[in-house]
Amino acid sequence: MSRITEHYQRARKSLAGGVSASTRVNRALGHPMYFSRAAGCQVWDFDGRDYYDLCCSHGATLLGHGDERITRAVHEAIAAGAACSYENETHAELAELLCDSIPAFERVRFTGSGTEATMHTIRLARAFTGRTKLLKIEGHFHGYHDQVMFAIGSPPSPLTAESAPGTWPASSGMPAELVEQLVVVPFNRTDLLAEALAKYGDELAAVICEPVFYNAGCILPSREFIRVMREETRRRGVLLIFDEVQSAFRMGPGGAQAHLGITPDLCTVGKAVGGTYPLSVFGGRADIMARLQPEGDCQHSGTYNGHPVVVAAALAALKAYLEPGFYEHVFAIADRLYTGINDVFDRYELPGRAIGLGARFGIYFGIDDQPQDFRDTLQHSRTLMLQFIRAAIEHGVYLHDYGGGACHHGFCAAMTTADVDQTLDRLAAAVQSMQPTGQRTLAAH
Ligand SMILES: Cc1ncc(COP(=O)(O)O)c(C=O)c1O
Repeated sequence: MSRITEHYQRARKSLAGGVSASTRVNRALGHPMYFSRAAGCQVWDFDGRDYYDLCCSHGATLLGHGDERITRAVHEAIAAGAACSYENETHAELAELLCDSIPAFERVRFTGSGTEATMHTIRLARAFTGRTKLLKIEGHFHGYHDQVMFAIGSPPSPLTAESAPGTWPASSGMPAELVEQLVVVPFNRTDLLAEALAKYGDELAAVICEPVFYNAGCILPSREFIRVMREETRRRGVLLIFDEVQSAFRMGPGGAQAHLGITPDLCTVGKAVGGTYPLSVFGGRADIMARLQPEGDCQHSGTYNGHPVVVAAALAALKAYLEPGFYEHVFAIADRLYTGINDVFDRYELPGRAIGLGARFGIYFGIDDQPQDFRDTLQHSRTLMLQFIRAAIEHGVYLHDYGGGACHHGFCAAMTTADVDQTLDRLAAAVQSMQPTGQRTLAAH
């Protein structure tokens, strides 16, 4: 038994399932990975083996592990006493920076996780509109609270192009009647979206969606789909919520909404916003945000909201994202990495395709066309994907599998072109090792 599996057995005796978060078990390995050290774009396991990190803390790491600007800011906040649960001047400074960067943000609030952010945004949308129904997109992921954990992950029975939108619960323990508050529509089906908005428009508080569907790899909305979504929600008094927990700051400081040129009424951001520290943000139109207590009647609070250490980290991260050249670097690395991965697949005739936008990407195996919605991603070969991830890890590149269909991966800005080339060499060796008759040209990592 390796030290990793040995430690997993130990952890299982006190931590439920051996992990602090269920999805930390990498389904390709059947156990979590344990990293004792991280720096820049690399992580080191218990045995000192290094890996290029293409998981990047599930999206929380965008600058890189142990970024010194963030570390310095965190140390300064700790040295100043890090008085928790009180306001200080950094809260407004961060809020101003966010309102200047993200088009939807006129006012913001801080929370600890993406889950809390979407939960509070939905409550606020219901308070503001006086309506309760929520339209969500099939497969889109919005965290772990009960109202949104339907129609995600693996459907209980196969979904075909003809099946009705799925409403399966993704966990036990959720009141079944919550599904009555949901209307589910597949991504990029403008006809079904328009139909649902016409049918339920008067009852809908909000439409919530991932404007770039990174949770199924990387799928963009068609121009028509997102235009109809914006225009028809506005016309019917339905609030449009973009969940940018994953997409914010990936392709520009204004997130997916700036990239697509569509401004929602409310929006959530998470992961990269905290510079690896636990911060998420929700916000939007000033008139809607005015419904929050103490000005209004809708509750949002929390002991740890806007913890000074986390706010200091976020301020340092945002300032780094706004530095000249930051996104030019991100796009140059993205181009080299995604093109390089596809070249490796072509060279060894592995039917895989990396598709990305900015710093996050998906890899699809065994499907010819670019996926347009969640159902398309269910057609990709999980068997090949799991083999690929296992081989990549064996050769020193860390990728994560969450279960369900396709997964999201990513890189951080600490990656240089030399790191990309090293990563591609390791991936080439990994793919070659998957070929039954292949000859390894590179020494196993
Ligand atoms: C789009 C989206 N929304 C919400 C969440 C939940 O965020 P958290 O894990 O911080 O609760 C995630 C997490 O992956 C996400 O990708």
